[in-house]
Amino acid sequence: MSAPLTAILIGAGQRGADSYAPYALQNPDLLKFVAVAEPDPKRKESFCKKHQIDSESAFDTWEELLSKPQIADVAFICTQDWMHTEPAVAAMRAGYHVLLEKPMANRADECRLLLDVSRETERQLVICHVLRYTDHFNKMRELIETGVLGEIIQVAHRENVSFWHMAHSYVRGNWRNQTETSPMILAKSCHDLDILPWVLQQKSVEMVSMGALNHFKQENAPEGAPKRCLDGCPVADTCPYYAPFIYLEMAPFWNNVADTTHGFARWASHTYPRNPNMIKALSTVVPILKGITNYQGFPISILDSNPTQENLLKALQEGPYGRCVYFCDNDVVDHQVVMMRMDGGAQVTFTMHGHSHYEHRSTRIEGSHGRLTAEFGLGGSWIEVDEHRTDWHQKFDTSAEIGAGHGGGDFQLVAYFLDSIKNGSFEDAYNGTKEALESHLLAFAAEESRLNKKILTREAWEVEIE
Ligand SMILES: NC(=O)c1ccc[n+]([C@@H]2O[C@H](COP(=O)([O-])OP(=O)(O)OC[C@H]3O[C@@H](n4cnc5c(N)ncnc54)[C@H](O)[C@@H]3O)[C@@H](O)[C@H]2O)c1
Repeated sequence: MSAPLTAILIGAGQRGADSYAPYALQNPDLLKFVAVAEPDPKRKESFCKKHQIDSESAFDTWEELLSKPQIADVAFICTQDWMHTEPAVAAMRAGYHVLLEKPMANRADECRLLLDVSRETERQLVICHVLRYTDHFNKMRELIETGVLGEIIQVAHRENVSFWHMAHSYVRGNWRNQTETSPMILAKSCHDLDILPWVLQQKSVEMVSMGALNHFKQENAPEGAPKRCLDGCPVADTCPYYAPFIYLEMAPFWNNVADTTHGFARWASHTYPRNPNMIKALSTVVPILKGITNYQGFPISILDSNPTQENLLKALQEGPYGRCVYFCDNDVVDHQVVMMRMDGGAQVTFTMHGHSHYEHRSTRIEGSHGRLTAEFGLGGSWIEVDEHRTDWHQKFDTSAEIGAGHGGGDFQLVAYFLDSIKNGSFEDAYNGTKEALESHLLAFAAEESRLNKKILTREAWEVEIE
């Protein structure tokens, strides 16, 4: 058995510590974290404890960690959107292969610089486009490759961001204001702008985009609503964005899991917010239910790394997630459409909106010989194919294990990255990074089109890359 690859983590937040690093704990023969940079003392301490990192290898900032000589094979860079380029460039120059969170950068020139440095240093730079590593989208690509749909004529792909996730991340949370972070089409949808050309194996050659922020504005606040939900809100019993409903009851989260899952798991996750005591009692004889009753992940883990009811209540009283959604400093859109013509002739409409009853992506592909429909949700996923002439119909269950981040994509991405370092070639990895760049350029172009009300053709966003 060979030794595990060693890693440093920059940014031990939700993605770094909770989504990717657990892979090392479950696969100690493949990956071991040996150092961390994280300014939040609670997060740093918790990471060090879980991964047995001593205090000499725990730093407050990426600058401190990367000023030391290289101490591991790879760097996971999971800081916020505006803090990707500098640590990624420094890490590659220090000798690390890099797994970098998306968006790779929030400016086109910085995305370009990242590729240049990857080429110059010959360090692999893998971008966390997790959907590429899911069984769901791999199956979709494989089905299209079989030719069962014939010529692809029209694609309608929707990113249905749930009302509670929209409120959490894009109204109250980290991605609410594009001057501080990224426009919604980059922050949320660079995944979709990556996966559509990848699944179809066609490039976008023309696009137009429209979108706006309609709902989460002061003028839509209910009469008498205070600035914070807990300060006597008159619509506490009816507002879907009422913070205790989202974070203390967790009802929308569990309803969302139920909406996209099946059988017993569906019943249990639906029942939990209505009758928590029943599910808690049942979990003593059906241990699998502890996945529900002991759940401490997204979104409550963002309010407090120890999300007890007491800590959550304090966070709602004092922190950003207790704010009324109509009185936040948000400006990102709550709906946007991108229409594209592809070089293979397909026409694609991509719709993102933040008012979905439950979180899922849905896809409909109409071909000359058949149709594909699909749903990719928090609790489960499926793809259906119908052939026009034979009326052949098949349904594929592409669900990952419940709780597997991004339908299994988070862990499968880490597995891919490690394998690519050990057995892959720099050129293959670099080609993947070039494709990631393309999705970011599409997002910047879509934003330009939306803001300037312009139809753009490929020359407007394409860049020459060696
Ligand atoms: N791939 C995906 O599907 C996906 C999903 C969600 C978020 N993201 C992206 O992942 C990134 C991280 O998001 P998150 O939700 O984990 O954010 P987060 O805020 O939870 O984590 C970022 C961490 O970086 C730390 N940090 C700040 N300054 C630092 C410094 N100088 N040195 C080291 N660490 C520093 C912060 O304290 C924080 O703990 C973002 O770019 C986000 O857009 C990707």
